[in-house]
Amino acid sequence: QTDQRIAYRAKLLTFKGDPALDADAAVFDDDGLLVVEHGRVVAAGAYAALKHHVTSETEVRELRDKLIVPGFIDTHVHYPQTDMIASPATGLLPWLETYTFPTERRFADTAYAQDTANFFVDQLLACGTTTALVYCTVHKQSADALFSASEARNLRMIAGKVLMDRHCPEFLRDTAQSGYDDSAELIARWHGRGRQLYALTPRFAPTSTHEQLEACSALAKAHPDVFIQSHVAENVDEVKWVAELFPGHRSYLDVYEHYGLLRRRAVYGHCIYLDDEDRARMADTGAVASHCPTSNLFLGSGLFDFEKAGRAGMPVALGTDVGGGTSFSMLQTMNEAHKVARMTGHTLSATRMFWLATAGAAQALDLADTVGTLAPGSEADFVVLDDQATPLLARRTARAESLEEWLFALALLGDDRAVHATYAAGQCVHRRDAGR
Ligand code: GUN
Ligand code: ZN
Repeated sequence: QTDQRIAYRAKLLTFKGDPALDADAAVFDDDGLLVVEHGRVVAAGAYAALKHHVTSETEVRELRDKLIVPGFIDTHVHYPQTDMIASPATGLLPWLETYTFPTERRFADTAYAQDTANFFVDQLLACGTTTALVYCTVHKQSADALFSASEARNLRMIAGKVLMDRHCPEFLRDTAQSGYDDSAELIARWHGRGRQLYALTPRFAPTSTHEQLEACSALAKAHPDVFIQSHVAENVDEVKWVAELFPGHRSYLDVYEHYGLLRRRAVYGHCIYLDDEDRARMADTGAVASHCPTSNLFLGSGLFDFEKAGRAGMPVALGTDVGGGTSFSMLQTMNEAHKVARMTGHTLSATRMFWLATAGAAQALDLADTVGTLAPGSEADFVVLDDQATPLLARRTARAESLEEWLFALALLGDDRAVHATYAAGQCVHRRDAGR
């Protein structure tokens, strides 16, 4: 730990708005300087304009052939599913039964949970992800394990114990009361401790009783700054099932709204089978759609509609959804998001995809001044990307004729190999070549 001022001389990419709404929203400095002290950004911008920040005590790190962007934000991921990533199934519900529930059972064992949490967090960092919205399992010690792994590396993570008291194996059930008590205890222990934040985590409507959703609702009301995460409208069989289980509701999303679970800091995975009224409700309440393209393609769930989401004005961010998702890399998630957008007649620019994975996600999560940015005063979470990481990346990026083309090649061809180093609160938490 050092409180010394460090200045990174590199290419810098930041945002002053949504590139879809403002053509000048992306701010790029080909010769930039990022000045960090006490875990926060002191200044970021053109080297020529900022060199007065370099005092005789400042250590300058030369990274002029590298690109620094804010740390990536993964808005939907299941750490207990790390060990079952890439398990084939014919769709969401059989996949949950065959692979997910038996794997999650193992998190009753604290040592196993701790080992997986440490591996998971290091995997995020290797991919340049410094903040994630993480599902644990039904076991409260699974949440303790994740938060402890995050706290040990001083990361800003958001996580919660899963709530599920029906329609799942007996060995994975809590009750409305125990789920309430455990969540309340974890909020008291972790929410706002250092950089940790809590998320109430009802798995999805089918696995919670009315009583459990009521209990979750009460906690959400009592803690308005706590996050909420769940799944909605991911798969046609799931949507049908919810209609049977919750008759009388206008839609699947309406079940969550009925329990007061649509609001700022509420993040819903998938959001594929929504109608325009649902999209309007999300826009009005500030609830966020987490688009998880690698998962939706892998499980054959469907295609998220960026065009309709944009027209409705609902907040959207990106998620990996590992283990339904097939990669921890937000670059690979951008790659697949671009293709899904194409399939629905929309074009996602690279600039917008980098925004969605950084400042856009932070804004959607109500953390805009904290992470996802290099603005002075923000927490110094950032990634150093290497456009020479592979021979193909080097060859293609050398031929890029614009910033957009260059970023596009990085997003489409990049993965953890393109992450040279990752920093959290000003400290290096991953270096690609460290093991060599
Ligand atoms: N719906 C309910 N649980 C899950 C899960 O673990 N993964 C995905 N992708 N969808 C879900
Ligand atoms: Zn999920």
